[in-house]
Amino acid sequence: MKRTGFAILTLLSLGVAGYALVVYGFLPLGAALHPEMRATYESQRFGIYAHVFAASFALLLGPFQFSSRLRARHPDWHRWSGRLYLGFGVLLGGLAGLYMAFHAWGGPVARLGFGGLALAWLYTGWRAYRSIRARETAAHRRWMVRNFALAFGAVTLRLWLPGSLFAGAPFEIAYPLVAWLCWVPNLVVAELVFNRRPHG
Ligand code: HEM
Repeated sequence: MKRTGFAILTLLSLGVAGYALVVYGFLPLGAALHPEMRATYESQRFGIYAHVFAASFALLLGPFQFSSRLRARHPDWHRWSGRLYLGFGVLLGGLAGLYMAFHAWGGPVARLGFGGLALAWLYTGWRAYRSIRARETAAHRRWMVRNFALAFGAVTLRLWLPGSLFAGAPFEIAYPLVAWLCWVPNLVVAELVFNRRPHG
């Protein structure tokens, strides 16, 4: 069950990161989006590309950081991948995400939702970094769990949004709501499921 859960989480993360890299790497900007979002992205090309490419990197690398086998067998891989995850994925992806939050579709509720997510992502990344520099491994693990739960918001957003549209919510209601739903419950699950027991 634990292995199956981990495999599902990894596949979903790789799937969304792959989607983002292919769509933003090869298709015209905003091809698959609401026309107003496309217009915003056209005027914020640097912000959206920096965000999508850096944040996708975090989503690609993140799941493997939790594999104890990989950490034990290849500690250098864990270290370098962690530096890339935090220094490129979270830092650049989070700062560009924060910038894009000011331009997000869906008005102030959506903007505050994405802005809160960006700040929480940057903050938890900073705490994870500080704790490992101080050799506090248990604290590092807890902050990384929170940090990746927030990165996983990119996956849960793409589950909540079609789910709410399917349930009959109009897009202009669903989108701002999902800007919060995609990450607040993730943090709760991270604390209740993955951070409850002390780990080394
Ligand atoms: C965890 C912190 C994150 C924050 C704060 C954040 C924030 C944002 C914001 C504000 C937008 C613009 C939304 C709009 O215009 O309405 C956006 C779009 C986008 N983000 Fe993120 N994001 C985060 C994580 C990620 C991750 C990990 C990925 C990895 C795939 C990602 C991929 C995308 C993509 C592909 C878009 C363009 C919309 C689409 O094509 O679906 N984001 N993000």
